[in-house]
Amino acid sequence: MIKTADATICLIIGDPVFHSLSPLMHNSAYRELGIDDRLVYTAARVEPANLEDAIKGIKALNIKGVSVTVPHKEKVMKYLDEIDETAKTIKAVNTIVNKNGRLIGSNTDWTGAIEALNNSLSTDKLRNKKTAVLGAGGAARAIIYGLKRENAYVKIFNRTIEKAEVLAEEFGVTSGKLSDLKKESKNFDIIVNTTSLGMGKLKNSSPIAKEYVQRKHIVFDIVYNPIKTRLLKDAESVGAQVIHGSEMLLYQGVAQFQMFTGLKAPVDTMRDVLYSYLRENE
Ligand code: ATR
Repeated sequence: MIKTADATICLIIGDPVFHSLSPLMHNSAYRELGIDDRLVYTAARVEPANLEDAIKGIKALNIKGVSVTVPHKEKVMKYLDEIDETAKTIKAVNTIVNKNGRLIGSNTDWTGAIEALNNSLSTDKLRNKKTAVLGAGGAARAIIYGLKRENAYVKIFNRTIEKAEVLAEEFGVTSGKLSDLKKESKNFDIIVNTTSLGMGKLKNSSPIAKEYVQRKHIVFDIVYNPIKTRLLKDAESVGAQVIHGSEMLLYQGVAQFQMFTGLKAPVDTMRDVLYSYLRENE
C-alpha cells in the first residue's frame, strides 16, 4: 500500500475499462516485489472524445506507464511523441511509457501471444509451423505480426473474406473464408482463434466444429473469459493441446510490467491472481 506521497502511478485507459484485469495483475506484482509502497496501478475510463486531453494528462500528472485498451489502441497513436517500429507495423499501441516527459508507444499484445505459444511448444518453436489464424481484426494483426517474425507459415480465415485478403496482402500471407477452415484444418499444426466466437453472448459458439479439430493440433483461443472456451473444450476432448487466452493476457502484462518498472516480473504471482479471479468470476 502507498505510504507516502512519493508514488509512481501507472494505469490502464479504455472505454469501458471496469472489466480490466490489469490493475489486479500489476498491483499483485508490486506487492510480491515489495514495491507497492511507492507504485500504484489503477484504471481510468476515457471516452473517445476525451482521448487527446487524457494523453496530455499523462505528461501533466507525470504518470509513468499507461496500458491502452479498446477502443483507443489505434487512435491514441497520433497523440504520442514516438511510436516504435513494431507498433507502427501492427498499427496499434497498447503500451505507453513516459520517458522523461516523452510518450513512447509500443505493443506487447504480439509478445503476449508469441510467449504463450512458445511456452507450449517443445523444441523447434514456431519456425515453419503451419498456423491457421481465425479472424482478421486488431488482435489478429498483432498475432500475425508475431507469427511472421517467428517464421511461421500463416493463413488467415475470416467470415468477411475481404478483410482477410487485405490483411494477408499486407503481411505477405494467404487467406480464406472461415467456412473453408473445416476442409483445410487437417493441413495445419496450430489453430489460433482471434474472433469473438466463444465470449460474451457468443459464449456457446466456436469458430470450428469439433469434428474438424484433430489430436495433432495445438489450439490457442485468445478469448480469456471463460478460461475454457467451447473451442478449447472441444479440442481437449479430442486430445489436442490447448493454450488459454489468459496466457496471452498474462504475458502482455508481464512485458508491460517490465517496461514500466525496469524489473523482472513475478510471472507466477501474476498468473495465480489472474487465474484465481477468472475461476471465481466465470
Ligand atoms: P479485435 O480487435 O478483438 O480483433 P475486431 O477487430 O472487432 O476485434 O475483430 C473481430 C473479429 O471477430 C473479426 O475477424 C470478425 O469477423 P468479420 O471481419 O467477418 O466481422 C470476427 N467475428 C465477430 N463475430 C463473428 C461471428 N459471429 N462469426 C464469425 N466471425 C466473427
